Amino acid sequence: MKIAVVGTGYVGLVTGVTLSEIGHCVTCIDIDQTKVEKMKKGISPIYEPGLEELMKRNIRENNLFFTTNHREGFKDAEVIYIAVGTPEKKDGSADLSFIEEVAINIAQNINRNVIVVTKSTVPVGTNYHIEKIIKQNLVNDIKFDIVSNPEFLREGSAVFDAFNGDRIVIGADNNKAAQIIEEVNNNYGIPVFKTDIKSAEMIKYASNAFLATKISFINEISNICERLGADIEGVAQGMGLDNRIGSQFLNAGIGYGGSCFPKDTKALIQIAGNVDYEFELLKGVVKVNQKQQRILIEKLEQRFGELGNKVIGVLGLAFKPNTDDMREAPSIVIIKELLNKGAIVKVYDPIAIESAKKVLEPGVNYATSVDETLYKSDAVLILTEWDEFKEIDLSLFKQLMNQPIVVDGRNCFDLKGALENDIEYYSIGRKEINRKS
Ligand code: UGA
Repeated sequence: MKIAVVGTGYVGLVTGVTLSEIGHCVTCIDIDQTKVEKMKKGISPIYEPGLEELMKRNIRENNLFFTTNHREGFKDAEVIYIAVGTPEKKDGSADLSFIEEVAINIAQNINRNVIVVTKSTVPVGTNYHIEKIIKQNLVNDIKFDIVSNPEFLREGSAVFDAFNGDRIVIGADNNKAAQIIEEVNNNYGIPVFKTDIKSAEMIKYASNAFLATKISFINEISNICERLGADIEGVAQGMGLDNRIGSQFLNAGIGYGGSCFPKDTKALIQIAGNVDYEFELLKGVVKVNQKQQRILIEKLEQRFGELGNKVIGVLGLAFKPNTDDMREAPSIVIIKELLNKGAIVKVYDPIAIESAKKVLEPGVNYATSVDETLYKSDAVLILTEWDEFKEIDLSLFKQLMNQPIVVDGRNCFDLKGALENDIEYYSIGRKEINRKS
């Protein structure tokens, strides 16, 4: 099929590239000329394992094209995916201006009957809003259908998820349109769940809100475990063995970040509020997450008292491993607070340094390796569970640091290893280890 995808962020680019991989002829449209020129050469603007390989192959095989021109991109398209951003507005609600712009562009440029599929995460009812805008601005006498097809991929494993997801949700009011979109997705080999448009839109928000709830829940349990002397790893494992609970998303840490959970939880609170419903549970989830992001600072202060002039090394900046994405990363909040408290901050991330430079406060020192971060630090914080950190030779902490104090927000090391290597080790929801105990 001939498909156009508008927007080449994480969602749009992965959608476009993987649709070309399963046999469609795809044109990705983006207004950013420099980005488009790079993508035409097979260079991905984002770090996403496996993506460039698929891009290069499908460009070579003439299945995948990039353009800044909507008319050219929409020409003869049978399906148009909308995958532009819905950033958070000041009041927490979703900003739909990019979506609205695309709807107008579609109306002005389509030249045949088409199905418009929304991939972007949009508040319940937005697909009808899109339908209305297209209708009002249509230039040619054509027919179109709208379909909601929310995305569930995770950054860092987006390509894997595209071919191994648990379900594809298709929300449509028209059976024929739903069937066509089901056929478009056939070669992904993933079960399809069909429903109405508003329910599909809600499934996306409810899923992300539920996963965020799981994280805040386990984080609170971990805080209680610390106080009671229980061990969060065992507790999470024991809980996860119950199929009704499931073992995933029970890793306690420093709170969730990224471009989705923080934004979508707040948007759902707004969506509920708009229909006079106070989503109390989700408000709690957001509050717990904000509190959890500060947990390592509290641990440091308990250990040192004042942090002024202490050299604090930070390992990991991205909101999670295998991505260079810094959006809503807990590291931003933590580093800002360290600087406010007068600490000298030295940071390192295997991939995210360049994107971090754009968002971190001035005054941060950027290291180029783990060793450099550890060297003469008074304490080291671990904020992202990159494999590179999990595989650190634990003896390095004692060798390189002023004193081997490690405050680990991601439980990267086992307690025994830390003890054997004389590390004063503070982690999340587990027993604290130090030479004195
Ligand atoms: C999330 C969802 O997992 C995807 O299904 C969804 O498509 C995506 O949002 C989206 O709406 O686009 P993503 O934000 O890429 O994906 O990352 P996750 O792997 O879900 O992690 C989110 C945050 O939760 C990270 O900061 C991570 O460190 C944290 N997390 C995750 C925990 O603290 N504990 C866990 O057990 C799991």
